[in-house]
Amino acid sequence: MEVCQTIAEIRKYVGRARERGIVGLVPTMGFFHDGHLTLMREAAKVCPTVVVSIFVNPLQFGPTEDFRDYPRQPERDLALAREAGVHAVFMPDTAEMYPLPPALFVQVERMDEVLCGRSRPSHFRGVATVVAKLFNVVAPDMAFFGQKDAQQLQIIRRMVRDLNFNLELRAVPTVRDSDGLALSSRNVYLDEKQRVAATVLFRSLDRAQEAIRSGERNREAVEKLMTGMISAESVAQLDYASVLSLPDLDPIEHLEGSVLLAVAARFGRARLIDNVIVKIGSDLKS
Ligand code: PAF
Repeated sequence: MEVCQTIAEIRKYVGRARERGIVGLVPTMGFFHDGHLTLMREAAKVCPTVVVSIFVNPLQFGPTEDFRDYPRQPERDLALAREAGVHAVFMPDTAEMYPLPPALFVQVERMDEVLCGRSRPSHFRGVATVVAKLFNVVAPDMAFFGQKDAQQLQIIRRMVRDLNFNLELRAVPTVRDSDGLALSSRNVYLDEKQRVAATVLFRSLDRAQEAIRSGERNREAVEKLMTGMISAESVAQLDYASVLSLPDLDPIEHLEGSVLLAVAARFGRARLIDNVIVKIGSDLKS
């Protein structure tokens, strides 16, 4: 496995690798868990060359957020990537990615104002900007993102479309612990009590899906159900429990077509998110 720290090195590597066929990129901020490894394995199924980027992107953290404390374990990550069959890791430092304070940002308007965008106002601008840079640097044919970050995924989809990036995006289903908790690098911040309480996110989504399966179509009723469950958990500080349309993340009153059920709450230091997609139609499934 090749480890590249500079843009010149990864470009040179990808230039050679392209002779073997298509190149897949898995953008990450490191501190791998099984969710990341699943992205890499999915990429390896269809791409003869898999590149993983590891870069904790300062641009997507707010001034009071956990950029400095964000968990980092580069040596362990490299060993795991090697085991997962990754061909190259692009691991730049901040000066390599941002030699100058950026003067140009990629912002997907409106979609970045809902859900997490309300409490993290510049987060998605930071994500879209760094992902656009990674796409320009690595020039992948395919890129793999987790469905767990549903809003990020829809924003990147829209960016790819609006800016004509010549690549295919693949969404990979959320990987969960046996009790339903979505895997996240920030789960490491949870103490025992918070870890148990955090399962309320998935439980609330599951209950909401059940209600929809039983015929509930009112957006407010579904949101109330999820809000009620999360607020009843004493350790949880609810951020949102929302139902929005897909793919545009628009507000809706009556549930139809594909809808996103999304929740976010704080458990101590950990701000966690989760979501499910429900497809409403003749054949109701999620
Ligand atoms: O999902 C993440 O880990 C990050 O937001 C991403 C896509 C790697 C951009 O920094």
